[in-house]
Amino acid sequence: MLSLLFLLLLTQGNLPMSEQLPQNIFILAGQSNMAGRGGVANNTKNGIPSWDGIVPAQCQPNPSILRLSASLTWVLAHEPLHADIDYNKTSGVGPGMPFANAVLTRVPNFGSIGLVPCAIGGTAIREWAKGGFLYDQLVRRTQFALQSGGVIRAMLWYQGESDTEIGEDADAYKGRLSRFFIDLRADLGYPTLPIIQVALASG
Ligand SMILES: *[C@@H]1O[C@H](CO)[C@@H](O)[C@H](O)[C@H]1NC(C)=O
Ligand SMILES: *[C@@H]1O[C@H](CO)[C@@H](O)[C@H](O)[C@H]1NC(C)=O
Repeated sequence: MLSLLFLLLLTQGNLPMSEQLPQNIFILAGQSNMAGRGGVANNTKNGIPSWDGIVPAQCQPNPSILRLSASLTWVLAHEPLHADIDYNKTSGVGPGMPFANAVLTRVPNFGSIGLVPCAIGGTAIREWAKGGFLYDQLVRRTQFALQSGGVIRAMLWYQGESDTEIGEDADAYKGRLSRFFIDLRADLGYPTLPIIQVALASG
């Protein structure tokens, strides 16, 4: 009995970060503003964008904040959250970490958080429509995240600049966005899924 207990303690002590499961799931989706470009600048020597590696206090890792990696494992979350998702671009600091840290500061008993990064820089709203790669990836990653037994709390959505260049896209935006939200809520089986959206001020 004692040796079993010892074995149990030993196993738990050696439990890798990826074995921890989050209780509260948040989806991060949209374009570059959500993927995070904070601290990314062009290298003047070779012209290739690179991240300066600076992590502000509100973006620091916290043992209670995990992220779902591109290979569908839970790992300790740290900037850049979208490095393996928006992999064709250089990601830096984004809104996901400060959001999760702020939630834990304000609600100390909230429990662990699982962030599900899905944002891809430069994407337009029509690319997020049901049936496309981005939509499928979003649903697939979220459904996987929920298998851990956690509860989905909200999607953080930060997208729209790609739809401001052509008048027709801007005019169609409201309809396309509503369709996307309706489809997503239906496919996740959560018709009242809270969606926290960033709106840019219009002139
Ligand atoms: C880097 O340079 C490219 C090409 O000149 C430009 O399109 C891009 O916006 C620049 N990126 C940053 C982060 O300054
Ligand atoms: C990355 O670039 C490749 C080649 O253009 C493309 O097939 C792929 O969809 C891109 N992936 C992402 C996540 O941007």
